[in-house]
This record gives sequence, C-alpha cells and structure tokens, in this order.
Amino acid sequence: MGILELILDWFKQGSASLQGIFDHIKSHEEANADAKAHNRIFHFAVPYSVWPEVCQWLKEKNDEFPNNGCIRLVLEKPFGRDHQSVLELINTVDKYFKEDQVYRVDRYLGKEILENLLVMRFANRFFAPIWNRDTVNTVQILFKEPWGAEDQNRMQYFDLQGIVRDVIENHLLQVMALIAMDKPASLSVEDIRNEKIKLLRSVKAIRKEDVVIGQYTPGNGHPGYLEDPNILGKPSTTPTFAMMVVYIRNERWDGVPFILKAGKALNEMRSEIRIQLKSVPGDLFQGADLQRPNELVVRMQPTEEMYLKMTIKKPGLGMEIVPTEMEYSDSAKDMQDHSQAPHRAYERLLLNCMHGENRRMVHRDELLASYTVMDPVNKMVDNSAVPLHHYTFGCARAHSFDC
Ligand code: BG6
Repeated sequence: MGILELILDWFKQGSASLQGIFDHIKSHEEANADAKAHNRIFHFAVPYSVWPEVCQWLKEKNDEFPNNGCIRLVLEKPFGRDHQSVLELINTVDKYFKEDQVYRVDRYLGKEILENLLVMRFANRFFAPIWNRDTVNTVQILFKEPWGAEDQNRMQYFDLQGIVRDVIENHLLQVMALIAMDKPASLSVEDIRNEKIKLLRSVKAIRKEDVVIGQYTPGNGHPGYLEDPNILGKPSTTPTFAMMVVYIRNERWDGVPFILKAGKALNEMRSEIRIQLKSVPGDLFQGADLQRPNELVVRMQPTEEMYLKMTIKKPGLGMEIVPTEMEYSDSAKDMQDHSQAPHRAYERLLLNCMHGENRRMVHRDELLASYTVMDPVNKMVDNSAVPLHHYTFGCARAHSFDC
C-alpha cells in the first residue's frame, strides 16, 4: 500500500483519528483556560482528494466546540491537477472557510534570497532602468537536483505529478512572477499579489515547439526512472526533466525569453536565476573575449547568494580584459548550510501563518493564473504531444539539450 492509499485509508476509517486530534485540542485548551486566545491551525499533510471531507469535518467540529481564537488552514501543493480541479477545490474549501483563513504555502516564497530579490529590485536605483527588453537578453530560472524522483519515498506522488506540476508550475512560476512583475504600489499583500497576477496573465500561450521533456535512464550506478522495480515497477511517461521558453506579452518584456528548466537525477544540486544582459553595443574591446555579457545570478540552492558578472581590466601594465564577479555575501553566508535552508523557509511561512500574516502565501487568484499558464503544457505532456527524451542519471547534457 502506497503512502497515498495509507493516508486515504486512515481517513476512510472514519473521523476517529480526527476526533482524536480534536480531543487533544480541547484538553489542551482546557488546561490553558487562562490564555488570551486559542488559535487553531491545521496543516494539511493529506492529498487534495480528501480536503473536502476534512474541511467539512473541521468546520463542524469547530462550530461544535467554538474557541475564542481563530481557525486557519495550511495547504500545500498539489492544489489540484489542472485549472478546473483547482477551481473546484477552491470552491469546496470556500463553503467552509474564508479565503483569509486559508494559507497556501509555496516554500520558495519563504526563501530569504527571494525576499531579498524584491528589495534589491526596488530599493536600488540602478536596476530599474535595465530591467526590461532593451537591456535584458534572457532570463533563466533553473532547478537541478542530483537525486532521482524516488527521494523521500515520494515516487508514487511524483509519478502522478511529473516535474512540471511538481516544480515548474509553482516554485519556478512564482520566481518568474517576482522577477518580472512591475513595481507594486506598496508592499501590501494585495498590491504585490496584483502585480504578480497581472504578470501571470500576460504570459503568452506556451507553444509545443518551446517545450522539451525528458526522463532519466540508469547511469552512474543509479537505476533509471523505470528500472527500479521497488520504486515504480511499471511503464510511465512522466517527465523528470522539463524545459520551456515562456514569453511575456507586455511592454517591458515582449520578446525576452524566460527559460524555465527543472530536472531530477542531473549532475548537481543547483537552483538559480540568471538574468543575462545584452552585449555592450559599439564594443571597444573586440577580440578581447568580451563575449561574456553581464549577468546577475541569484542562487537559491545549494547556497543562497547573489553575484553580478562583469568585465574589468586585469591589474598590470597590459590591457588584459577579464571577467569578475561582484558578490553579495553578507547574511547569505550564514545560510550556507543547505540542511538549514528548507527549514528556514518553512519556519518563516508557518510563523507567518501563526501571526495571521499572509504576505508570503499564494492567493487563489494567483494559483488560478498559474494553472492557466501551465494547463496547456500539462496537456501536451499528458497527451504525449511532445516527445519524451531520455537522459542518463547524473548527466549535465542530455540528448540535444543542456541540462
Ligand atoms: C518540492 C518538490 O516542492 O521542492 C520536490 O516537491 C523538490 O520534488 C523540492 O525536491 C525542492 O525544494 P528545495 O527547497 O529543497 O529547493
């Protein structure tokens, strides 16, 4: 029995287990009767197929045993399979809880460096004039993991999702919205959200020829996606790698390719944003290997850091031109321990929920806008309308594409 079946089974056994949770809550609240308020936060670690039942049950129990605080739900992806199912689920949860009681978590939004991206973009004068199609050549948003989909025994979950739903549709699209959105009117949740939604709604329909997908085969001592009978043991066309070119139809970004790339079982762990600028026009230093354009790199994994790639003169009597990096290394250095980073992101998000702050949460409209962007890609993948390439576990280049 897989983990999903186990959980479903646990729920189907009836409300006994949930009743247990409520009994525990009640006795805790009774024991702390002098507390100013008793807030109830329920973090759903269950598949979305049981959210309606759980929500209904929680609402009934909460009404039966009212408290003097608030009730909040923490929901995590997947929020549904496609736009239609997400909308249906939103409407179902809506029957029982208000939108401001629902905290949809995308752990990327808890990453320190992404918050910093917002500050960096809007608190520094020199970025605004170059942050557009006149200066930016390409934007790449990359996610690479050196382990396969079997990591953390999530194979069954992953096989249903695939890399587009697992990583691109949420994490990478959120990152893209933060990079590309216009300046919000204020730092209020609503203003930032409105800009992100506006941006997502400006994304052009992604074309079949702009999508590449792949699945890993055995290599470097690891089994392939299909090869390990203990893991999947059945044929599957689920992609473990995907790359797509996204265009934004607005005045700022028209024609600039945003390349979103995510893959498992690659050669390294790296997730980063690379904003590459156009080459200097009328270049004075031709022949000096200056074909290295300026690039701003915002790295999320394995360490959180930012650096700007630029060209300088090598100190000395000659006129040798060399690349260099201006690196942001302040508190980012404190985040070097990767094992801490995911926890920190979660800690921040859960703390926000406890404080009733939904600034870093995903609003329903944002979610629906993301699914509108990705539905056509998921359809292409689900219907095998784009060819599934194969790449070796641990490779840096696969087929004709660069991982
Ligand atoms: C999760 C995906 O949301 O993000 C995983 O389901 C992935 O497949 C993980 O490994 C990566 O998150 P982070 O914070 O380690 O980059």
